[in-house]
Amino acid sequence: MNGKFVTVEGCDGVGKSTQVRLLKERLEREGIDAVFTREPGGTPIAEKIRGIILDSDNSEMDGLTELFLYEASRRQHTKEIIEPALSKGKLVICDRYIDSTLAYQGYGRGLNVDMIRKLNEWAMGDVKIDLTLFLNVSSEEGFSRKGGASREDRLEKEKSEFYERIYDGFLRIAEKEKRFKKIDASGDKFSTHEKLYAYLKDNGYLNL
Ligand SMILES: Nc1ncnc2c1ncn2[C@@H]1O[C@H](COP(=O)(O)OP(=O)(O)OP(=O)(O)O)[C@@H](O)[C@H]1O
Ligand SMILES: [Mg+2]
Repeated sequence: MNGKFVTVEGCDGVGKSTQVRLLKERLEREGIDAVFTREPGGTPIAEKIRGIILDSDNSEMDGLTELFLYEASRRQHTKEIIEPALSKGKLVICDRYIDSTLAYQGYGRGLNVDMIRKLNEWAMGDVKIDLTLFLNVSSEEGFSRKGGASREDRLEKEKSEFYERIYDGFLRIAEKEKRFKKIDASGDKFSTHEKLYAYLKDNGYLNL
C-alpha cells in the first residue's frame, strides 16, 4: 500500500467535518486526487451499522455491543474503501477513525483500553495510519462552542465531565503516538484550514 492515510480526530463539534469539507473543496480546486471518507460509515453496509448505533430507539444499547458495532462498521469501511484506495497509491482522508473509539468508548465510557486497541488492530488489518490531525480545542472551549450550559445543572455537569475525560484521553493518545499532530483549532474555520493545508503540503502529503 503506497498511498497515504490521514485521519482527522478531536472532540465533539470541534470542526472535523467542516475541515474535511474545506480540504476536499481545496484539493478539488487544485486538481489533487484524494479520497474523503468518514466513520462510522463510508460504505452502504457500514452506513447501515452507523444507523443502528445512532438510532435513538436503541438507547438501551450495551456499551460492548456499541463497541463491536463500531468495529464491525470500521472493518467493512477499511476493506471496501480505505485499503483499495491506499493500494492504488491514493491519499485518503478520514473524518474520525480508531482514536475516536479509544477516546470515547475507552477513556470516556471506561471500557478496557487495551481491548479496544486490539479490536482496532483487527479491524484495520494491514492498513497503517500515516498521520492523525488532532483538532485541539479544550473540552471547556468545545463545550461552550456547542452552546455551553450552566455547570450547576447535574446532567450538564456529567456531560462536561464526560467530554473532559474524552479530551484528556485524546491527549494521552497523542503523547503515545508519533503519528499525532496537534493542530490548534481554537481560531475560526478558515485559519484552522490554512494550518491543516500547510501541514499536509509541507510534509509531502499533497504530491503522491
Ligand atoms: N473554527 C470554528 N469556530 C467556530 N465554530 C465552528 C468552527 N468550525 C466549525 N464550526 C461550527 O461548529 C459546528 C460543528 O462543526 P463540525 O460539524 O464540523 O464539527 P465536528 O467536529 O465534525 O462535530 P462532530 O463531532 O459532531 O462530528 C458547526 O456548526 C460548524 O459550523
Ligand atoms: Mg463531524
